[in-house]
Amino acid sequence: MNFFAPRMSRFKPSPSQIAAARVRELQAEGHKIIKLTSGEPDFPTPDHAKQAVIDLMDRNEIWYTPINGTLEMRKAAQLKFKRDNGLDYGLDQITAGAGTKQILFNCLMATVGQGDEVIIPAPYWASYPDMVLLTGGTPVIVSCGQNNQFKMRPEQLDEAITDKTKWLMFSSPSNPTGATYTKDELRALADVLLKHPHVHIVTDDVYEHLIFDEREFFTLAQIEPKLYDRTVTCNGVSKAYSMTGWRLGFAGGPKEIIANMSKMQSQSTSGVSSVAQAAAIAAITGPQEFIKERTANLQHRRDMLFEKLSAAKGLSCDKPEGAMYIFCSCAGTIGKKSPDGKVIETDTDFTMYLLDSVGVAVVQGDAYGLSPYFRASFVAPEKDIIEGGDLIQQACAALT
Ligand SMILES: Cc1ncc(COP(=O)(O)O)c(C=O)c1O
Repeated sequence: MNFFAPRMSRFKPSPSQIAAARVRELQAEGHKIIKLTSGEPDFPTPDHAKQAVIDLMDRNEIWYTPINGTLEMRKAAQLKFKRDNGLDYGLDQITAGAGTKQILFNCLMATVGQGDEVIIPAPYWASYPDMVLLTGGTPVIVSCGQNNQFKMRPEQLDEAITDKTKWLMFSSPSNPTGATYTKDELRALADVLLKHPHVHIVTDDVYEHLIFDEREFFTLAQIEPKLYDRTVTCNGVSKAYSMTGWRLGFAGGPKEIIANMSKMQSQSTSGVSSVAQAAAIAAITGPQEFIKERTANLQHRRDMLFEKLSAAKGLSCDKPEGAMYIFCSCAGTIGKKSPDGKVIETDTDFTMYLLDSVGVAVVQGDAYGLSPYFRASFVAPEKDIIEGGDLIQQACAALT
C-alpha cells in the first residue's frame, strides 16, 4: 500500500526549484555558475516598509490576525485596486494570503473539483496546471505561439471553452514570456467571455508594475465591468515592491468566492503573519515613485540580455514587454552536436548543455508548456548578464 495520498501523484513539484537545487549541487562541488534563473527582483525592501515592521514590534502587535487579513491590510488592498486599476471592492470582497500563490491556490481549491476544466494559456507559470491537478480538476492548455507574441487569440479562447469550463486562469505580463496584453487585446478576450456567462476569470496581476517601454497595464475586470462579478483579481507585493520573502498576496472579487477562499485558508495557514501585513500596508500605501526607477533599471538589463541572446547562433527571441524574463527559442540548436558528442534533442538537453559546458543556468521551456525554448531571467548583476550572455554565445557557436 502506498503511504502517500493519491493526490500527491497528481502533481509535480515546482520545476524552477529543481533547477535551483541542481545549481546548488554544482556550486557545492566548486563550480562557478552564472544564474539567469531568478524569479525575484533584486532590489531591497523599501525603507518605509522595514520601518513599519520595527514600529509594529515596538508596539508588540505580533498576534494572530483575521483570516482574510487585518482591516488595515484590506483597506490598503482596497486603496490599491482603486488607485491602480479603477476597481471598487468592498472590504468583504478582499482577502489576504501568504503570497499570490496561496491566493491562487485558495481560489482553485475552493471552487474546482473533479470534472471541472480550467483554461490555461501556454506558456504558463509552471505552478498553474499542477495547482489545478491537485484540486482534481482538468487543466485545458491553450498553446500560444511566438508568432502571436505568446498571446492567446480570442478564437483560441472561444474554442477552448466547454460547458465544463469553470475558470480562465490569466496572467499579463506573463511569466515566462513577458507577454503583456494591450487594452484592445483584452477587450477582444472580454468579448468572448461575455458570450459564456458560466466562465469565471482568475487574473494573476503580480507583474503589473514590471512593464516596459511606456506600456500601460490593464486588468480584465477594469476593461469590461460586466466581468467584475465573475473575476477574481489577484496581486501581491512580491514583484512590485521586491518583497518576495515577506509572503503577502491579496485578491478582490465576488463576496461569496472571497469568503470561500478565506474558509479554505482558515483550515490551513490561518491569517497571514502580522509582520508581513505591516510591511505590505506600508509598501502599498507609501510612496510609489521608486517603482518606475526600478522598472527602468530592469528594462536596461532586459535590453542587455536581449542583445546577447539575439546574437547567439541558433537562438531566436523577441524583446519581452514586461516581467523579468526572456523566453528564447532554441529550435536552431536541436539536432546539433556538442563538442563531447552529445546530440541536443530537447530544450532540457540544451539547458543541461549550457550548465555543464559553460556554467550558465536557465530554465527549460518544457517547464512552462512550450518547447523548444528556455527562460532566461534578467534579474542578475549586469556583469553576470554580460558574462552569461557571452558564454551562451560561445556554447551555441561550439555546436555542430
Ligand atoms: C505568474 C506568477 N504568479 C505568482 C507568483 C508568486 O507570487 P507570490 O510571491 O506573491 O506568491 C509568481 C512567482 O514567480 C509568478 O511568476
